[in-house]
Amino acid sequence: MATVITNIGSLLTNDPSLGTVEDAAVVIEGEHIAWVGPADRAPAADVRHDARGRAALPGFVDSHSHLVFAGDRTAEFNARMSGRPYSAGGIRTTVAATRAATDAELDANVARYIAEALRQGTTTVETKSGYGLTVEDESRALRIAAAHTDEVTYLGAHIVAPEYADDPAAYVDLVTGPMLDACAPHARWVDVFCEQGAFDGDQARAILTAGAKRGLVPRVHANQLHHGPGVRLAVELGAASADHCTHLTDADVDALAQGTTVATLLPGAEFSTRAAYPDARRLLDAGATVALSTDCNPGSSFTSSMPFCIAVAVREMGMTPDEAVVAATLGGAKALRRDDVGRIAPGARADVTLLDTPSHVHLAYRPGVPLVSAVWQRGVPV
Ligand code: NIG
Ligand code: FE
Repeated sequence: MATVITNIGSLLTNDPSLGTVEDAAVVIEGEHIAWVGPADRAPAADVRHDARGRAALPGFVDSHSHLVFAGDRTAEFNARMSGRPYSAGGIRTTVAATRAATDAELDANVARYIAEALRQGTTTVETKSGYGLTVEDESRALRIAAAHTDEVTYLGAHIVAPEYADDPAAYVDLVTGPMLDACAPHARWVDVFCEQGAFDGDQARAILTAGAKRGLVPRVHANQLHHGPGVRLAVELGAASADHCTHLTDADVDALAQGTTVATLLPGAEFSTRAAYPDARRLLDAGATVALSTDCNPGSSFTSSMPFCIAVAVREMGMTPDEAVVAATLGGAKALRRDDVGRIAPGARADVTLLDTPSHVHLAYRPGVPLVSAVWQRGVPV
């Protein structure tokens, strides 16, 4: 069965040969896009959806979230908004709540936030473990995540588990040994929070290298709270992405510009921790590939909204609306090393987000307004 979405006023394809098509149509067959072009030349289809002149774009690709958790951290957010600084130590609060939760509770939470994101136009979501920090709890988190997405990341190295506070080296041995054995079959990626108070450069290298030996591709929480070795380590190891990139030296920017690692910026974290935003302009001008993602988690960034991240990136991080929307779609796909999502072209997955506005620029121009009017995921209207 074929569906045509026609009368699209402005279609952002992210495809170099198609560009942005005015008065466009998209034909979907099964899970994939079969045809893209001017509406008056569209082939016939069984089902016709009239976009009535509004804008369409690829479904957002949120390449960084932490959805397997229980509880929330409202009190911590309140304290921050009265002047207390963000501390990675708050992760322990969520670890305790997550360990105490049942599988069904965690599963329902992941489903809830993925559905919330989908309503806001997100059709691909990466998500991580990292609030279990035992062999059992980390592997359970990954199994639960894998029931909802193919993009699953092992983050046993989020912080040193409380039980190992006096012996971090033993925790790194656990993360690179029995925990990795239990987790590798359920994940595609390995991640580490390389930061003061979490894992230093040597520990991060050991964790990422061990994961890579088991077939997991590295990605790194890098340079979020301070300058540090995370970004350059990510580039050196050929990580798919260095995430946060808030505190960068010129050498970090050069490394990202010259390497293959995507710089994934997470403005929800700076918004919610009242920190200075990363400088997207500096990265783009240097030639780095930039992705935008939510970092959705109960501590530092409790938003599932890619439109929110786009609006903040445009207002606060020096991105143009076009750059931000591309970073939230094609950029996320590159950070996940995917070429079937993040673009609308024949053969790509039929993930299409239709807006209620004439242009995707409105995602930044009309912040906070629910502008997504319809979403197709794998060819199915949701
Ligand atoms: O990406 N930085 C480390 N991890 C999360 C925060 C997790 C939390 O505070 O619960 C992040 O911001
Ligand atoms: Fe994160």
